[in-house]
Amino acid sequence: MARSIEIAPSLLSADFARLGEEVAAVAAAGADALHFDVMDNHYVPNLTVGPLVCAALRPLCPIPIDVHLMVRPVDRLVADFANAGADIITFHPEASEHVHRTIGLIRDHGCKAGLALNPATPLCVLDHVLDQLDLVLVMSVNPGFAGQGFISAALDKLRAARRRIDEGGRPIRLEVDGGVKVDNAAAIAAAGADMLVAGSAVFSQPDYAAVIDALRAAAIAGRDGRFAPAA
Ligand code: DX5
Ligand code: ZN
Repeated sequence: MARSIEIAPSLLSADFARLGEEVAAVAAAGADALHFDVMDNHYVPNLTVGPLVCAALRPLCPIPIDVHLMVRPVDRLVADFANAGADIITFHPEASEHVHRTIGLIRDHGCKAGLALNPATPLCVLDHVLDQLDLVLVMSVNPGFAGQGFISAALDKLRAARRRIDEGGRPIRLEVDGGVKVDNAAAIAAAGADMLVAGSAVFSQPDYAAVIDALRAAAIAGRDGRFAPAA
């Protein structure tokens, strides 16, 4: 059976004066999950939102909340985000002293656990934890800001991650984050990603449903091989 494709708009590019409306609008427009970027001005050079905002948006958000923690340390925020209604909590291995323990902590709180790989982070960080994960996030930009260009080396990394996930046989989402647009979504899905985060690509457009549909259609075409990736 073909992998399902999920589109997850990143809140980082939404209008922060109208966050509740923005969340409801992307959900109504067909988004599969809400990507919630948490930055701490320490692990990454930017500062965004925390569990209070997640809890405030939770009742307005009929789709899963996919929390991307770009914070150090990680562990003490896990319970806060679980209590705030997070469905998935993803963190960066460089930000945790004990990656295996942090994954266990996330799962013990009833959330799905994800590990995020920066552009320079090798896939071998998955070596002893892949069987504990629900999601692998391949960063296609350096974390910290929306609106950066897609780093094309992420495509090879996605292919390698996809092989590892398929060999393991467990259903693990392969998410990609950074610089995802309608015009590269097919190549990204052809490389094996099945959950596409899109911040500026969605929120810069007046019609969220149109861009989410276009991202999904391109990704499905790429997944199904109805697309020849550029050399
Ligand atoms: C970057 C964030 C991304 C970002 C994506 O550190 O993790 O989720 O918001 O934004 P775009 O899609 O504009 O690159
Ligand atoms: Zn993100």
